[in-house]
Amino acid sequence: MPSRRGIFITFEGLDGCGKTTQLSRLAEALRGRGMDVVATREPGGTKIGESIRAVLLDSRTSGLTTWAELALMFADRAQHVKEIIEPALAAGKIVLCDRFTDSTEAYQGYGRELGSDIVRRLHRELCADLWPDLTLLLNSEDGGSVARARTRNQKHDSSEGRFENEDAVFFRRVQRGFEAIADREPNRVVRIPAGSIAKVEVAILGVVEGKFPQLTSRAVLSR
Ligand code: TYD
Repeated sequence: MPSRRGIFITFEGLDGCGKTTQLSRLAEALRGRGMDVVATREPGGTKIGESIRAVLLDSRTSGLTTWAELALMFADRAQHVKEIIEPALAAGKIVLCDRFTDSTEAYQGYGRELGSDIVRRLHRELCADLWPDLTLLLNSEDGGSVARARTRNQKHDSSEGRFENEDAVFFRRVQRGFEAIADREPNRVVRIPAGSIAKVEVAILGVVEGKFPQLTSRAVLSR
């Protein structure tokens, strides 16, 4: 594995919890302080990954088995880690990633009931066991966020609705998965309470500055 000088932060949570908005706000704030930020997402983030994303999220994809779904998530991630994340970290950049292996544990491990062990094993074997320095778990008021994501996709005529078409029982299992991960790894995973976009943005910046004092505006100014 290349030496790691950068910082790796991931955003997690149910569909429509607002993580994509928050990721771009944090990216903007850090860039404003002169930091070199790579903002990326899963599935996707590479050319190959965007093709895999289309298969995974398209509501017209039918008959994909749960194991094939899991394998595609990891095919996407293995490519992403090697092509984008590791080189950026080795170059000392800050990598902000919209979803990572915690999503696979929550959605495929808990949601699809494939279990955590296989997810963590595949991560070790296929993704160089690379874990984020910090994971921000955005909370959303019970299930409302999934409905929001569904409406958003309909409004934008997006075909990315395969997961959002799952029922409330599925999303309760996914949420339970995220909670279990946060309980298991309190040093890495920080829960961000739901709130207005501005409030959540402030909360996230506080957590990031607390964990990485070298990123505070004062530290950056005195460099
Ligand atoms: P995303 O684009 O983040 O959707 P949203 O902006 O609505 O949160 O994620 C796409 C979908 O892919 C989402 O429903 C969760 C699912 N997913 C998995 O099931 N497993 C995974 O490992 C990842 C990365 C995503």
